[in-house]
Amino acid sequence: MEVAQTPLLDVTALEKQFPGVRALHNVDLTLNRGEVLAVVGENGAGKSTLMKILAGVHTPNAGTIRIEGREVRIQSVRDAQAHGIALIHQELNLAGNLDIAANIFLGIEPHTAGFIDSGQIHAKAAGHLKRVGLDFPTDTLVADLTIGHQQLVEIAKALSVDARIIIMDEPTSSLSQTESETLFKVVHDLRSQGISIIYISHRLGEVMVLADRVVVLRDGENAGELAREQISHNAMVKLMVGRDLSQFYQRNTTEPGSVVIEAENLRTPAHPRIGLSFSVREGEIVGIAGLVGAGRTELLETLFGVTPAVGGTLKIAGKVVHPKTPLEAIQFGIVLAPEDRKQHGLILEMSVRENASLPRLRMDQKAGAIDFGAEIEVATEMVKKMDIKTPGLEQVVQYLSGGNQQKVVLGKWLAMKPRLLLLDEPTRGIDVGSKQEIYRLMEELAAGGVAILFVSSEMEEVLGMADRALVMHEGVITGELARDQLSEEAVMQLATGNKAAA
Ligand SMILES: Nc1ncnc2c1ncn2[C@@H]1O[C@H](COP(=O)(O)OP(=O)(O)OP(=O)(O)O)[C@@H](O)[C@H]1O
Ligand SMILES: [Mg+2]
Repeated sequence: MEVAQTPLLDVTALEKQFPGVRALHNVDLTLNRGEVLAVVGENGAGKSTLMKILAGVHTPNAGTIRIEGREVRIQSVRDAQAHGIALIHQELNLAGNLDIAANIFLGIEPHTAGFIDSGQIHAKAAGHLKRVGLDFPTDTLVADLTIGHQQLVEIAKALSVDARIIIMDEPTSSLSQTESETLFKVVHDLRSQGISIIYISHRLGEVMVLADRVVVLRDGENAGELAREQISHNAMVKLMVGRDLSQFYQRNTTEPGSVVIEAENLRTPAHPRIGLSFSVREGEIVGIAGLVGAGRTELLETLFGVTPAVGGTLKIAGKVVHPKTPLEAIQFGIVLAPEDRKQHGLILEMSVRENASLPRLRMDQKAGAIDFGAEIEVATEMVKKMDIKTPGLEQVVQYLSGGNQQKVVLGKWLAMKPRLLLLDEPTRGIDVGSKQEIYRLMEELAAGGVAILFVSSEMEEVLGMADRALVMHEGVITGELARDQLSEEAVMQLATGNKAAA
């Protein structure tokens, strides 16, 4: 074979077995120089596992990995680094209490006569930052950067060790629109410098924009591949789920009932001078749209008693209530499935069964002993309804794939049948097929009289699911759009603070 035609990376017949789970079976993957290769697949398809093997986090049970035609063994993160492979994890790995330069050179500090050469560190770091388009002083603390900028620092760190293959696992899932666009530009720049990128995302729209080629995994196996000119939303979905899916969910609206929750000039600690007024009725699904930082999460947290209101009134079913803690909120029938589920939604060391029944047990304070039978029943139903991929109810949640962990969090709240369900970015990290399942469950709850208030940064989700949308901008509700007024244009106008145009 000609050297020029040898792929940069060539993986063949890869196998990975976890206790009770075959995560990868007979998987092949090639990557060329200067190529952006997208890897897509449903939750639990094996994407992160494959990438962790390439990055030396996991070792495979069988299969070969070749770099420039030569077989290599990657048994540690250091091995991967030596071969020029860097993985940008979804949960970023930076030390917040150190500055940018220290993070870039963490563990590989250049020394002069035995001492860490700080001048050299800052000069070199500045060079790497430039390549990712960041012009912050290199002594800025990482904790003071936005998530998007932290991600760029991670990429700069990869460049500092001469990575030729940069793997990004769901890089945009917590980025704002602008931050995502900056990242796309950096991906393009890296590609033109000959660096190869493996890009994992559930956002098929961005895959269409970025990818030179798409590899699809299904149930741990290769499901197909699409060349640039074959890439389309439908083609990807078809390979991912093995069937056609209608692109957007369309809600069947029902007549709303009486008012469940009513806020009047409610003031949150995040924006104490701004009063928020709105209501949600039984059976209604109300969306809260807006850009990242508009105060949407803060509003949900106030309703749930995480950060109690500092003024105004809140009525539940006509009665004035002011939850001071989440426990109080739960007693009023309010529950919140938070945005940051890893930190606030799950106990990672506990099993699927235990996580599923947590809120119930907390609510029923009188329960002295745990009813295992009931617990198993609740968990079994949740796994079935949410189509959670797990070898069993006793699996520790930490070992589920990212999307399946999220389904556990969501599932346990959906199973509670609250009065008011607050959802923050309910489908973040969730694959296309399961998204529709979650929408169906939301609709089912609404039909049963639950009031739902959900925050979403995905326009399609707001347009498809909301009976009505509140749009926020810098802490203010800039407008309210009824279903027949909902359009991308109207939402964006209000989200950017342009009241008059909408
Ligand atoms: N450390 C582990 N121990 C046991 N099972 C694991 C472990 N890591 C992953 N798995 C299992 O391997 C399978 C593939 O998981 P993986 O995280 O690779 O999926 P994914 O495609 O990245 O999904 P998602 O889109 O939800 O992130 C899943 O069934 C998961 O539960
Ligand atoms: Mg994953």
